[in-house]
Amino acid sequence: MGATSSLWLLSISFLLLVYGGVETQASHIVLQNLEALQPLFPNHTYRTSFHFQPSRNWMNDPNGPMVYKGVYHFFYQYNPKGASFGKISWGHSTSKDLLNWRAHIPALSPSQPAADINGAWSGSATILPNGLPALLYTGVDSRNRQVQNLAVPKNPSDPYLQEWVKSPRNPLISPNHYNKINATSFRDPTTAWRGPDGNWRILIGSKVERRGLAILYRSKDFVRWVQAKRPLHSAEGSGMWECPDFYPVSTNPTGLDTSLVGSRIKHVLKISLDESKHDYYTIGTYDHARDKYIPDKGSVDNDSGLRYDYGKFYASKTFYDSLKRRRILWGWINESLIDTEYVKQGWSGVQGIPRTVWLDKTGKQLVQWPVQELEKLRSNKVEMPSTMLKKGSVSEVSGISAAQADVEVTFKIMEFGKAEKMEERWREDPQVLCSQKGASVRGGIGPFGLKVLASQNRQEYTAVFFRVFKGNNNNPVVLMCSDQTRSSLDKKTDKTSYGAFVDVNPMQEEISLRILIDHSMVESFGAKGKVCITSRVYPTKAIGGKAHLYAFNNGVHSIKLSKLTAWSMKKPTIN
Ligand code: FRU
Repeated sequence: MGATSSLWLLSISFLLLVYGGVETQASHIVLQNLEALQPLFPNHTYRTSFHFQPSRNWMNDPNGPMVYKGVYHFFYQYNPKGASFGKISWGHSTSKDLLNWRAHIPALSPSQPAADINGAWSGSATILPNGLPALLYTGVDSRNRQVQNLAVPKNPSDPYLQEWVKSPRNPLISPNHYNKINATSFRDPTTAWRGPDGNWRILIGSKVERRGLAILYRSKDFVRWVQAKRPLHSAEGSGMWECPDFYPVSTNPTGLDTSLVGSRIKHVLKISLDESKHDYYTIGTYDHARDKYIPDKGSVDNDSGLRYDYGKFYASKTFYDSLKRRRILWGWINESLIDTEYVKQGWSGVQGIPRTVWLDKTGKQLVQWPVQELEKLRSNKVEMPSTMLKKGSVSEVSGISAAQADVEVTFKIMEFGKAEKMEERWREDPQVLCSQKGASVRGGIGPFGLKVLASQNRQEYTAVFFRVFKGNNNNPVVLMCSDQTRSSLDKKTDKTSYGAFVDVNPMQEEISLRILIDHSMVESFGAKGKVCITSRVYPTKAIGGKAHLYAFNNGVHSIKLSKLTAWSMKKPTIN
Protein backbone atom coordinates (compact mmCIF):
# COMPACT_ATOMS: atom_id res chain seq x y z
CA MET A 1 0.00 0.00 0.00
CA GLY A 2 1.37 3.43 -0.96
CA ALA A 3 2.10 6.12 1.62
CA THR A 4 -0.86 8.17 0.40
CA SER A 5 -3.35 5.35 0.78
CA SER A 6 -2.10 4.50 4.29
CA LEU A 7 -2.40 8.15 5.27
CA TRP A 8 -5.91 8.20 3.88
CA LEU A 9 -6.95 5.09 5.80
CA LEU A 10 -5.37 6.43 8.98
CA SER A 11 -7.24 9.69 8.71
CA ILE A 12 -10.50 7.83 8.10
CA SER A 13 -9.99 5.77 11.27
CA PHE A 14 -9.19 8.94 13.20
CA LEU A 15 -12.28 10.72 11.91
CA LEU A 16 -14.43 7.72 12.71
CA LEU A 17 -13.24 7.97 16.30
CA VAL A 18 -14.00 11.68 16.47
CA TYR A 19 -17.34 11.62 14.68
CA GLY A 20 -18.46 8.24 15.91
CA GLY A 21 -18.63 6.39 12.60
CA VAL A 22 -20.19 2.95 12.84
CA GLU A 23 -19.87 0.34 10.15
CA THR A 24 -23.20 -1.27 9.28
CA GLN A 25 -23.72 -4.82 8.06
CA ALA A 26 -23.66 -3.66 4.47
CA SER A 27 -20.30 -2.02 5.25
CA HIS A 28 -21.38 1.54 4.54
CA ILE A 29 -20.10 3.98 7.14
CA VAL A 30 -22.75 5.73 9.22
CA LEU A 31 -21.62 9.03 10.74
CA GLN A 32 -23.37 9.64 14.05
CA ASN A 33 -22.74 13.37 14.22
CA LEU A 34 -23.93 14.10 10.74
CA GLU A 35 -25.98 17.21 11.57
CA ALA A 36 -22.97 19.00 13.03
CA LEU A 37 -21.19 18.93 9.67
CA GLN A 38 -24.08 19.55 7.34
CA PRO A 39 -23.81 22.69 5.18
CA LEU A 40 -26.73 25.04 4.59
CA PHE A 41 -26.06 24.99 0.85
CA PRO A 42 -24.25 22.23 -1.03
CA ASN A 43 -20.79 23.05 -2.39
CA HIS A 44 -20.83 22.79 -6.16
CA THR A 45 -17.12 22.79 -7.01
CA TYR A 46 -16.96 19.09 -7.79
CA ARG A 47 -20.55 18.42 -8.77
CA THR A 48 -20.98 16.82 -12.14
CA SER A 49 -22.96 18.41 -14.95
CA PHE A 50 -24.22 15.56 -17.13
CA HIS A 51 -24.01 12.61 -14.73
CA PHE A 52 -26.98 11.66 -12.56
CA GLN A 53 -27.00 13.07 -9.03
CA PRO A 54 -29.79 14.08 -6.63
CA SER A 55 -29.75 17.80 -5.81
CA ARG A 56 -28.09 17.05 -2.46
CA ASN A 57 -27.42 14.36 0.17
CA TRP A 58 -26.18 10.79 0.00
CA MET A 59 -26.79 8.40 -2.90
CA ASN A 60 -25.52 4.84 -3.36
CA ASP A 61 -26.80 1.93 -5.45
CA PRO A 62 -28.98 2.23 -8.55
CA ASN A 63 -32.31 0.47 -7.96
CA GLY A 64 -35.13 -0.79 -10.15
CA PRO A 65 -34.25 0.94 -13.42
CA MET A 66 -37.01 0.41 -15.99
CA VAL A 67 -39.03 1.98 -18.75
CA TYR A 68 -42.78 2.37 -18.30
CA LYS A 69 -45.23 4.02 -20.71
CA GLY A 70 -42.34 5.62 -22.59
CA VAL A 71 -40.77 7.08 -19.43
CA TYR A 72 -37.45 5.94 -17.97
CA HIS A 73 -37.53 5.42 -14.21
CA PHE A 74 -34.49 5.49 -12.05
CA PHE A 75 -34.52 4.75 -8.31
CA TYR A 76 -31.53 4.93 -6.03
CA GLN A 77 -30.44 4.36 -2.45
CA TYR A 78 -30.89 7.75 -0.87
CA ASN A 79 -30.53 9.32 2.57
CA PRO A 80 -32.90 12.31 2.61
CA LYS A 81 -31.34 13.51 5.87
CA GLY A 82 -27.77 14.18 4.80
CA ALA A 83 -24.70 13.29 2.79
CA SER A 84 -23.69 10.09 4.55
CA PHE A 85 -25.23 6.63 4.72
CA GLY A 86 -28.17 6.46 7.15
CA LYS A 87 -31.78 5.35 7.11
CA ILE A 88 -32.15 4.69 3.42
CA SER A 89 -35.13 5.46 1.16
CA TRP A 90 -35.60 4.90 -2.56
CA GLY A 91 -34.98 8.20 -4.33
CA HIS A 92 -36.89 8.42 -7.62
CA SER A 93 -36.42 10.37 -10.85
CA THR A 94 -37.86 10.04 -14.35
CA SER A 95 -36.69 10.99 -17.81
CA LYS A 96 -37.77 10.79 -21.43
CA ASP A 97 -34.25 10.84 -22.85
CA LEU A 98 -31.91 9.45 -20.16
CA LEU A 99 -30.28 12.92 -20.08
CA ASN A 100 -32.75 15.30 -18.39
CA TRP A 101 -34.18 14.00 -15.12
CA ARG A 102 -37.06 15.16 -12.99
CA ALA A 103 -37.01 14.38 -9.26
CA HIS A 104 -40.05 12.91 -7.50
CA ILE A 105 -40.75 12.21 -3.86
CA PRO A 106 -38.98 9.08 -2.59
CA ALA A 107 -40.78 6.03 -3.92
CA LEU A 108 -40.18 3.93 -0.80
CA SER A 109 -39.37 5.16 2.69
CA PRO A 110 -38.89 3.09 5.83
CA SER A 111 -42.31 2.59 7.43
CA GLN A 112 -43.25 -1.00 8.26
CA PRO A 113 -41.72 -2.36 11.54
CA ALA A 114 -41.90 -5.96 10.34
CA ALA A 115 -40.57 -5.14 6.87
CA ASP A 116 -38.44 -2.02 6.36
CA ILE A 117 -38.51 0.35 9.34
CA ASN A 118 -34.69 0.51 9.42
CA GLY A 119 -34.16 1.02 5.72
CA ALA A 120 -35.50 0.35 2.23
CA TRP A 121 -32.42 -1.24 0.68
CA SER A 122 -31.58 -2.30 -2.83
CA GLY A 123 -33.84 -4.13 -5.21
CA SER A 124 -35.13 -4.38 -8.75
CA ALA A 125 -38.13 -3.81 -10.97
CA THR A 126 -39.90 -6.46 -13.02
CA ILE A 127 -42.44 -5.67 -15.72
CA LEU A 128 -45.21 -8.24 -15.25
CA PRO A 129 -47.07 -9.84 -18.18
CA ASN A 130 -49.95 -7.34 -17.71
CA GLY A 131 -47.44 -4.53 -18.35
CA LEU A 132 -47.41 -3.29 -14.75
CA PRO A 133 -44.17 -2.96 -12.82
CA ALA A 134 -43.48 -4.54 -9.45
CA LEU A 135 -40.60 -3.63 -7.15
CA LEU A 136 -38.89 -6.25 -5.01
CA TYR A 137 -36.52 -4.78 -2.44
CA THR A 138 -34.71 -5.58 0.77
CA GLY A 139 -36.05 -4.07 3.94
CA VAL A 140 -34.27 -3.88 7.26
CA ASP A 141 -36.87 -4.74 9.91
CA SER A 142 -37.15 -3.59 13.53
CA ARG A 143 -34.79 -6.40 14.59
CA ASN A 144 -32.27 -5.39 11.91
CA ARG A 145 -32.99 -8.50 9.90
CA GLN A 146 -32.86 -8.28 6.12
CA VAL A 147 -36.15 -9.34 4.54
CA GLN A 148 -37.60 -9.10 1.02
CA ASN A 149 -40.59 -6.93 0.20
CA LEU A 150 -42.91 -6.01 -2.66
CA ALA A 151 -44.33 -2.65 -3.74
CA VAL A 152 -46.62 -1.81 -6.67
CA PRO A 153 -47.74 1.49 -8.25
CA LYS A 154 -50.66 3.22 -6.57
CA ASN A 155 -51.89 4.66 -9.84
CA PRO A 156 -50.69 2.70 -12.88
CA SER A 157 -52.19 5.26 -15.26
CA ASP A 158 -49.61 7.82 -14.08
CA PRO A 159 -46.57 7.30 -16.34
CA TYR A 160 -44.40 8.91 -13.63
CA LEU A 161 -45.54 6.36 -11.03
CA GLN A 162 -45.11 8.88 -8.26
CA GLU A 163 -46.71 6.83 -5.51
CA TRP A 164 -46.06 3.27 -4.53
CA VAL A 165 -47.99 0.94 -2.25
CA LYS A 166 -46.22 -1.65 -0.17
CA SER A 167 -47.75 -5.10 -0.05
CA PRO A 168 -49.67 -5.82 3.17
CA ARG A 169 -48.07 -9.28 2.92
CA ASN A 170 -44.58 -7.83 3.50
CA PRO A 171 -42.15 -9.25 4.29
CA LEU A 172 -42.59 -11.83 1.57
CA ILE A 173 -39.33 -13.61 2.34
CA SER A 174 -37.60 -13.72 5.72
CA PRO A 175 -34.50 -15.46 6.95
CA ASN A 176 -35.53 -18.17 9.43
CA HIS A 177 -34.22 -21.31 11.01
CA TYR A 178 -35.65 -23.43 8.17
CA ASN A 179 -33.72 -21.72 5.45
CA LYS A 180 -30.61 -21.30 7.68
CA ILE A 181 -29.90 -17.89 6.23
CA ASN A 182 -27.89 -15.33 8.13
CA ALA A 183 -30.31 -12.45 8.75
CA THR A 184 -27.69 -9.78 8.14
CA SER A 185 -26.44 -11.30 4.86
CA PHE A 186 -29.57 -11.66 2.80
CA ARG A 187 -30.31 -8.91 0.35
CA ASP A 188 -30.75 -7.25 -3.04
CA PRO A 189 -33.34 -9.24 -5.06
CA THR A 190 -32.79 -9.27 -8.84
CA THR A 191 -35.27 -8.53 -11.58
CA ALA A 192 -37.41 -11.66 -11.83
CA TRP A 193 -37.36 -13.89 -14.89
CA ARG A 194 -39.87 -16.50 -15.92
CA GLY A 195 -38.77 -20.02 -16.69
CA PRO A 196 -40.29 -22.21 -19.44
CA ASP A 197 -42.43 -23.74 -16.63
CA GLY A 198 -44.15 -20.37 -16.12
CA ASN A 199 -42.70 -19.84 -12.63
CA TRP A 200 -40.94 -16.65 -11.62
CA ARG A 201 -37.40 -16.76 -10.33
CA ILE A 202 -35.24 -14.28 -8.45
CA LEU A 203 -31.79 -14.30 -6.91
CA ILE A 204 -30.87 -12.90 -3.52
CA GLY A 205 -27.27 -12.17 -2.51
CA SER A 206 -25.92 -13.94 0.56
CA LYS A 207 -23.03 -15.89 2.06
CA VAL A 208 -22.31 -18.84 4.30
CA GLU A 209 -19.02 -18.18 6.03
CA ARG A 210 -16.72 -17.18 3.13
CA ARG A 211 -18.82 -18.70 0.37
CA GLY A 212 -20.77 -16.14 -1.65
CA LEU A 213 -24.24 -17.26 -2.73
CA ALA A 214 -26.87 -16.30 -5.29
CA ILE A 215 -29.85 -17.88 -3.56
CA LEU A 216 -32.69 -18.83 -5.90
CA TYR A 217 -36.38 -18.39 -5.07
CA ARG A 218 -39.34 -19.41 -7.22
CA SER A 219 -42.91 -18.18 -7.27
CA LYS A 220 -46.11 -18.78 -9.22
CA ASP A 221 -47.82 -15.54 -8.21
CA PHE A 222 -44.98 -13.12 -7.34
CA VAL A 223 -46.17 -13.10 -3.71
CA ARG A 224 -45.42 -16.55 -2.30
CA TRP A 225 -41.76 -17.36 -2.84
CA VAL A 226 -40.16 -20.73 -2.19
CA GLN A 227 -36.46 -21.21 -1.77
CA ALA A 228 -34.85 -23.63 -4.25
CA LYS A 229 -32.82 -26.51 -2.79
CA ARG A 230 -29.61 -25.15 -4.30
CA PRO A 231 -28.43 -21.66 -5.08
CA LEU A 232 -28.23 -20.76 -8.80
CA HIS A 233 -24.52 -20.30 -8.24
CA SER A 234 -21.98 -19.87 -5.44
CA ALA A 235 -18.23 -19.47 -5.06
CA GLU A 236 -15.91 -20.25 -2.18
CA GLY A 237 -13.73 -17.58 -0.62
CA SER A 238 -15.40 -14.47 -2.03
CA GLY A 239 -17.36 -13.29 1.03
CA MET A 240 -20.77 -11.62 0.79
CA TRP A 241 -22.42 -11.27 -2.63
CA GLU A 242 -24.36 -8.03 -2.95
CA CYS A 243 -26.62 -6.88 -5.79
CA PRO A 244 -26.46 -9.94 -8.07
CA ASP A 245 -27.62 -9.34 -11.65
CA PHE A 246 -28.46 -12.16 -14.07
CA TYR A 247 -29.42 -11.67 -17.71
CA PRO A 248 -29.15 -13.04 -21.24
CA VAL A 249 -26.79 -11.52 -23.84
CA SER A 250 -25.83 -12.08 -27.45
CA THR A 251 -23.20 -10.62 -29.74
CA ASN A 252 -25.86 -8.43 -31.30
CA PRO A 253 -26.05 -5.01 -29.56
CA THR A 254 -29.84 -5.48 -29.61
CA GLY A 255 -30.59 -6.33 -25.99
CA LEU A 256 -32.54 -9.32 -24.76
CA ASP A 257 -35.44 -9.31 -22.34
CA THR A 258 -34.56 -10.92 -19.00
CA SER A 259 -36.62 -14.10 -19.44
CA LEU A 260 -35.31 -14.93 -22.92
CA VAL A 261 -33.54 -18.22 -23.44
CA GLY A 262 -32.32 -19.80 -26.67
CA SER A 263 -29.48 -21.57 -28.37
CA ARG A 264 -27.38 -18.52 -29.33
CA ILE A 265 -27.87 -16.85 -25.99
CA LYS A 266 -25.29 -16.69 -23.23
CA HIS A 267 -25.94 -15.51 -19.68
CA VAL A 268 -24.12 -13.02 -17.50
CA LEU A 269 -23.94 -13.30 -13.74
CA LYS A 270 -22.64 -10.15 -12.09
CA ILE A 271 -21.73 -10.05 -8.44
CA SER A 272 -20.90 -7.04 -6.28
CA LEU A 273 -18.22 -8.13 -3.84
CA ASP A 274 -18.81 -6.48 -0.50
CA GLU A 275 -15.21 -6.95 0.63
CA SER A 276 -13.38 -5.40 -2.32
CA LYS A 277 -16.24 -3.23 -3.63
CA HIS A 278 -15.71 -4.66 -7.13
CA ASP A 279 -18.42 -5.67 -9.60
CA TYR A 280 -17.15 -8.75 -11.40
CA TYR A 281 -18.97 -10.93 -13.90
CA THR A 282 -18.73 -14.24 -15.64
CA ILE A 283 -20.24 -15.32 -18.93
CA GLY A 284 -21.78 -18.74 -19.00
CA THR A 285 -24.69 -21.03 -19.66
CA TYR A 286 -27.96 -21.13 -17.83
CA ASP A 287 -29.28 -24.67 -17.53
CA HIS A 288 -32.94 -23.97 -16.83
CA ALA A 289 -33.91 -27.60 -16.39
CA ARG A 290 -31.63 -27.74 -13.35
CA ASP A 291 -31.74 -24.02 -12.55
CA LYS A 292 -27.96 -23.87 -12.52
CA TYR A 293 -25.61 -21.32 -13.94
CA ILE A 294 -22.31 -22.64 -15.26
CA PRO A 295 -19.59 -20.10 -16.06
CA ASP A 296 -17.77 -20.81 -19.34
CA LYS A 297 -14.39 -22.52 -19.22
CA GLY A 298 -11.77 -19.87 -18.79
CA SER A 299 -14.23 -17.38 -17.24
CA VAL A 300 -12.52 -16.38 -13.98
CA ASP A 301 -15.08 -16.73 -11.20
CA ASN A 302 -13.61 -14.48 -8.51
CA ASP A 303 -12.38 -10.98 -7.76
CA SER A 304 -9.63 -11.19 -10.37
CA GLY A 305 -12.20 -11.94 -13.09
CA LEU A 306 -13.70 -9.55 -15.61
CA ARG A 307 -15.12 -6.31 -14.30
CA TYR A 308 -17.57 -3.83 -15.80
CA ASP A 309 -15.18 -1.14 -14.72
CA TYR A 310 -11.69 -1.31 -13.25
CA GLY A 311 -12.04 1.96 -11.37
CA LYS A 312 -14.93 3.04 -9.18
CA PHE A 313 -18.20 1.36 -10.14
CA TYR A 314 -20.30 -0.63 -7.71
CA ALA A 315 -23.66 -2.25 -6.97
CA SER A 316 -24.56 -1.92 -10.64
CA LYS A 317 -27.78 -3.05 -12.25
CA THR A 318 -29.00 -3.56 -15.82
CA PHE A 319 -32.46 -3.40 -17.34
CA TYR A 320 -33.95 -4.22 -20.71
CA ASP A 321 -35.03 -1.08 -22.53
CA SER A 322 -37.99 -2.31 -24.58
CA LEU A 323 -38.30 1.12 -26.25
CA LYS A 324 -34.95 0.94 -27.98
CA ARG A 325 -34.27 -2.77 -27.59
CA ARG A 326 -31.03 -2.59 -25.69
CA ARG A 327 -29.73 -3.57 -22.27
CA ILE A 328 -28.65 -0.62 -20.18
CA LEU A 329 -26.25 -0.69 -17.25
CA TRP A 330 -26.22 1.73 -14.32
CA GLY A 331 -23.49 1.80 -11.65
CA TRP A 332 -22.78 3.80 -8.51
CA ILE A 333 -19.58 5.83 -8.36
CA ASN A 334 -18.70 6.94 -4.86
CA GLU A 335 -16.49 9.79 -3.66
CA SER A 336 -12.73 9.54 -3.21
CA LEU A 337 -12.94 12.13 -0.44
CA ILE A 338 -12.83 11.26 3.22
CA ASP A 339 -16.34 11.06 4.63
CA THR A 340 -16.35 14.26 6.69
CA GLU A 341 -15.36 16.15 3.52
CA TYR A 342 -18.27 14.86 1.48
CA VAL A 343 -20.67 15.49 4.32
CA LYS A 344 -19.38 19.07 4.40
CA GLN A 345 -19.92 19.46 0.66
CA GLY A 346 -23.54 18.42 1.22
CA TRP A 347 -23.70 15.54 -1.27
CA SER A 348 -22.08 12.24 -2.01
CA GLY A 349 -22.25 9.80 -4.91
CA VAL A 350 -22.75 9.96 -8.66
CA GLN A 351 -24.10 7.44 -11.18
CA GLY A 352 -22.01 6.47 -14.19
CA ILE A 353 -23.43 7.39 -17.59
CA PRO A 354 -25.97 4.71 -18.50
CA ARG A 355 -24.14 2.28 -20.80
CA THR A 356 -25.45 -0.07 -23.44
CA VAL A 357 -23.98 -3.52 -22.83
CA TRP A 358 -23.70 -6.52 -25.13
CA LEU A 359 -21.48 -9.54 -25.74
CA ASP A 360 -18.21 -9.01 -27.60
CA LYS A 361 -17.83 -10.98 -30.82
CA THR A 362 -15.25 -13.24 -29.13
CA GLY A 363 -18.03 -14.31 -26.74
CA LYS A 364 -15.53 -13.94 -23.92
CA GLN A 365 -16.34 -10.55 -22.49
CA LEU A 366 -18.89 -7.75 -22.55
CA VAL A 367 -18.58 -4.43 -24.34
CA GLN A 368 -20.06 -1.21 -23.02
CA TRP A 369 -20.74 2.13 -24.63
CA PRO A 370 -22.42 5.31 -23.33
CA VAL A 371 -26.06 5.42 -24.46
CA GLN A 372 -26.32 7.10 -27.82
CA GLU A 373 -28.55 9.86 -26.39
CA LEU A 374 -25.47 11.35 -24.71
CA GLU A 375 -24.22 12.55 -28.10
CA LYS A 376 -27.07 15.11 -28.13
CA LEU A 377 -25.17 17.05 -25.48
CA ARG A 378 -22.11 17.45 -27.67
CA SER A 379 -21.36 20.99 -28.86
CA ASN A 380 -18.32 23.03 -30.03
CA LYS A 381 -16.69 20.20 -31.89
CA VAL A 382 -12.92 20.48 -32.29
CA GLU A 383 -10.69 18.15 -34.25
CA MET A 384 -6.99 17.56 -34.06
CA PRO A 385 -5.48 16.57 -37.37
CA SER A 386 -3.50 13.37 -37.57
CA THR A 387 -0.21 13.98 -35.71
CA MET A 388 2.92 12.07 -34.79
CA LEU A 389 3.39 12.13 -31.04
CA LYS A 390 7.14 11.92 -30.63
CA LYS A 391 8.97 10.70 -27.53
CA GLY A 392 8.08 12.96 -24.59
CA SER A 393 5.60 15.11 -26.53
CA VAL A 394 2.54 16.86 -25.11
CA SER A 395 -0.02 18.66 -27.34
CA GLU A 396 -2.85 20.73 -26.01
CA VAL A 397 -6.38 20.26 -27.37
CA SER A 398 -7.94 23.70 -27.08
CA GLY A 399 -11.29 25.21 -27.99
CA ILE A 400 -13.54 23.17 -25.69
CA SER A 401 -14.60 23.44 -22.06
CA ALA A 402 -12.13 20.85 -20.84
CA ALA A 403 -13.85 20.28 -17.48
CA GLN A 404 -17.09 19.19 -19.18
CA ALA A 405 -16.24 17.30 -22.33
CA ASP A 406 -16.50 14.17 -24.42
CA VAL A 407 -13.29 13.16 -26.23
CA GLU A 408 -12.68 10.39 -28.75
CA VAL A 409 -9.20 9.54 -29.95
CA THR A 410 -7.47 6.75 -31.86
CA PHE A 411 -3.81 5.85 -31.78
CA LYS A 412 -1.75 3.86 -34.23
CA ILE A 413 1.39 1.99 -33.20
CA MET A 414 4.06 2.51 -35.83
CA GLU A 415 6.63 -0.12 -34.78
CA PHE A 416 6.84 -2.74 -32.10
CA GLY A 417 10.61 -3.29 -31.83
CA LYS A 418 11.38 -1.42 -28.62
CA ALA A 419 8.35 -2.54 -26.60
CA GLU A 420 9.25 -3.49 -23.04
CA LYS A 421 9.35 -7.19 -22.26
CA MET A 422 6.37 -8.27 -20.18
CA GLU A 423 7.45 -9.96 -16.99
CA GLU A 424 5.25 -12.89 -16.01
CA ARG A 425 4.66 -11.56 -12.46
CA TRP A 426 3.29 -8.30 -13.89
CA ARG A 427 0.33 -10.18 -15.31
CA GLU A 428 -1.04 -10.92 -11.88
CA ASP A 429 -2.33 -7.48 -11.08
CA PRO A 430 -2.67 -4.80 -13.77
CA GLN A 431 -3.66 -2.24 -11.14
CA VAL A 432 -0.34 -2.71 -9.35
CA LEU A 433 1.46 -2.51 -12.69
CA CYS A 434 -0.27 0.79 -13.44
CA SER A 435 0.75 2.18 -10.08
CA GLN A 436 4.37 1.17 -10.68
CA LYS A 437 4.41 2.38 -14.26
CA GLY A 438 2.48 5.62 -14.11
CA ALA A 439 2.28 8.31 -16.79
CA SER A 440 5.67 9.77 -15.90
CA VAL A 441 7.54 6.45 -16.19
CA ARG A 442 9.02 6.30 -19.69
CA GLY A 443 8.40 3.09 -21.61
CA GLY A 444 9.13 1.62 -25.04
CA ILE A 445 5.63 1.92 -26.51
CA GLY A 446 3.73 4.29 -24.28
CA PRO A 447 2.59 5.53 -21.93
CA PHE A 448 0.52 7.40 -24.53
CA GLY A 449 -2.96 8.82 -24.09
CA LEU A 450 -4.66 11.88 -22.64
CA LYS A 451 -4.06 14.11 -19.65
CA VAL A 452 -7.44 15.41 -18.54
CA LEU A 453 -8.52 17.91 -15.88
CA ALA A 454 -4.99 19.29 -16.15
CA SER A 455 -3.83 22.64 -14.80
CA GLN A 456 -2.01 24.92 -17.24
CA ASN A 457 1.48 23.98 -16.13
CA ARG A 458 0.41 20.35 -15.57
CA GLN A 459 1.05 20.37 -11.85
CA GLU A 460 -2.28 18.62 -11.70
CA TYR A 461 -3.72 16.13 -14.19
CA THR A 462 -5.32 12.71 -14.46
CA ALA A 463 -3.62 10.60 -17.11
CA VAL A 464 -5.52 7.90 -18.97
CA PHE A 465 -3.16 5.96 -21.18
CA PHE A 466 -1.96 2.76 -22.79
CA ARG A 467 1.33 0.92 -22.61
CA VAL A 468 2.18 -1.92 -24.96
CA PHE A 469 4.47 -4.74 -23.83
CA LYS A 470 6.03 -7.64 -25.64
CA GLY A 471 4.51 -10.82 -24.19
CA ASN A 472 5.19 -14.50 -24.79
CA ASN A 473 5.91 -15.33 -28.43
CA ASN A 474 6.45 -11.61 -28.93
CA ASN A 475 2.70 -10.97 -28.91
CA PRO A 476 1.68 -7.47 -27.89
CA VAL A 477 0.07 -7.07 -24.45
CA VAL A 478 -1.88 -3.84 -23.98
CA LEU A 479 -2.30 -2.26 -20.56
CA MET A 480 -4.76 0.59 -19.95
CA CYS A 481 -4.30 2.79 -16.88
CA SER A 482 -5.96 5.71 -15.16
CA ASP A 483 -3.26 7.39 -13.12
CA GLN A 484 -4.58 9.71 -10.43
CA THR A 485 -1.32 10.30 -8.58
CA ARG A 486 -1.18 13.90 -9.83
CA SER A 487 -4.93 14.50 -9.95
CA SER A 488 -5.01 16.94 -7.05
CA LEU A 489 -2.60 18.98 -5.00
CA ASP A 490 -4.84 18.22 -2.04
CA LYS A 491 -3.03 15.48 -0.12
CA LYS A 492 -6.15 14.09 1.55
CA THR A 493 -7.93 12.69 -1.52
CA ASP A 494 -7.49 9.05 -2.50
CA LYS A 495 -5.23 8.78 -5.54
CA THR A 496 -5.13 5.04 -6.20
CA SER A 497 -4.29 4.27 -9.83
CA TYR A 498 -6.44 1.79 -11.74
CA GLY A 499 -5.70 -0.49 -14.65
CA ALA A 500 -6.60 -3.51 -16.76
CA PHE A 501 -5.27 -5.49 -19.70
CA VAL A 502 -7.12 -4.91 -22.96
CA ASP A 503 -7.91 -7.71 -25.38
CA VAL A 504 -6.84 -5.92 -28.55
CA ASN A 505 -4.01 -6.42 -31.02
CA PRO A 506 -2.58 -2.96 -31.76
CA MET A 507 -0.59 -4.33 -34.69
CA GLN A 508 -3.88 -5.15 -36.41
CA GLU A 509 -6.16 -2.35 -35.31
CA GLU A 510 -5.85 1.12 -33.87
CA ILE A 511 -6.39 1.59 -30.15
CA SER A 512 -9.32 3.84 -29.35
CA LEU A 513 -10.13 5.78 -26.22
CA ARG A 514 -13.21 7.76 -25.29
CA ILE A 515 -13.31 9.83 -22.11
CA LEU A 516 -16.26 11.56 -20.51
CA ILE A 517 -14.85 14.37 -18.40
CA ASP A 518 -17.26 15.91 -15.90
CA HIS A 519 -15.57 18.13 -13.27
CA SER A 520 -14.70 15.37 -10.77
CA MET A 521 -15.53 12.41 -12.96
CA VAL A 522 -13.25 10.77 -15.52
CA GLU A 523 -15.11 7.90 -17.19
CA SER A 524 -12.95 6.14 -19.79
CA PHE A 525 -13.82 3.56 -22.45
CA GLY A 526 -10.82 1.81 -24.00
CA ALA A 527 -10.77 -0.22 -27.24
CA LYS A 528 -14.38 0.61 -28.19
CA GLY A 529 -15.71 -0.29 -24.75
CA LYS A 530 -13.76 -3.44 -23.95
CA VAL A 531 -12.21 -1.88 -20.84
CA CYS A 532 -13.84 0.87 -18.78
CA ILE A 533 -12.16 2.74 -15.95
CA THR A 534 -13.92 5.41 -13.89
CA SER A 535 -12.11 7.74 -11.51
CA ARG A 536 -13.20 10.50 -9.18
CA VAL A 537 -10.72 13.35 -8.88
CA TYR A 538 -10.74 16.67 -7.05
CA PRO A 539 -8.30 19.10 -8.68
CA THR A 540 -7.47 22.28 -6.80
CA LYS A 541 -6.36 24.25 -9.88
CA ALA A 542 -7.85 22.51 -12.91
CA ILE A 543 -11.35 23.61 -11.99
CA GLY A 544 -14.01 24.85 -14.47
CA GLY A 545 -12.50 27.24 -17.05
CA LYS A 546 -9.01 26.54 -15.73
CA ALA A 547 -9.01 22.90 -16.83
CA HIS A 548 -6.97 21.84 -19.88
CA LEU A 549 -6.75 18.75 -22.05
CA TYR A 550 -3.56 17.30 -23.56
CA ALA A 551 -2.56 14.35 -25.70
CA PHE A 552 0.81 12.90 -24.70
CA ASN A 553 3.35 10.22 -25.43
CA ASN A 554 6.02 9.37 -22.91
CA GLY A 555 7.37 6.31 -24.71
CA VAL A 556 10.54 5.98 -26.79
CA HIS A 557 8.64 5.04 -29.97
CA SER A 558 6.61 7.69 -31.78
CA ILE A 559 2.87 7.03 -31.79
CA LYS A 560 0.52 8.27 -34.44
CA LEU A 561 -2.54 10.04 -33.14
CA SER A 562 -4.77 9.26 -36.13
CA LYS A 563 -7.81 11.20 -35.08
CA LEU A 564 -9.00 13.20 -32.11
CA THR A 565 -12.46 14.74 -31.83
CA ALA A 566 -13.56 16.58 -28.72
CA TRP A 567 -16.77 18.31 -27.73
CA SER A 568 -17.84 20.57 -24.91
CA MET A 569 -20.83 19.01 -23.23
CA LYS A 570 -24.08 20.90 -22.64
CA LYS A 571 -25.61 20.65 -19.20
CA PRO A 572 -28.96 18.85 -19.10
CA THR A 573 -31.49 19.47 -16.31
CA ILE A 574 -30.88 16.89 -13.62
CA ASN A 575 -33.17 16.83 -10.63
C1 FRU B 1 -24.50 -2.18 -1.79
C2 FRU B 1 -25.43 -2.28 -0.58
C3 FRU B 1 -26.52 -3.32 -0.76
C4 FRU B 1 -27.58 -2.83 0.17
C5 FRU B 1 -27.48 -1.34 0.01
C6 FRU B 1 -27.81 -0.53 1.23
O1 FRU B 1 -23.81 -0.97 -1.80
O2 FRU B 1 -24.66 -2.56 0.58
O3 FRU B 1 -26.11 -4.63 -0.48
O4 FRU B 1 -28.85 -3.29 -0.16
O5 FRU B 1 -26.14 -1.07 -0.38
O6 FRU B 1 -27.86 0.81 0.90
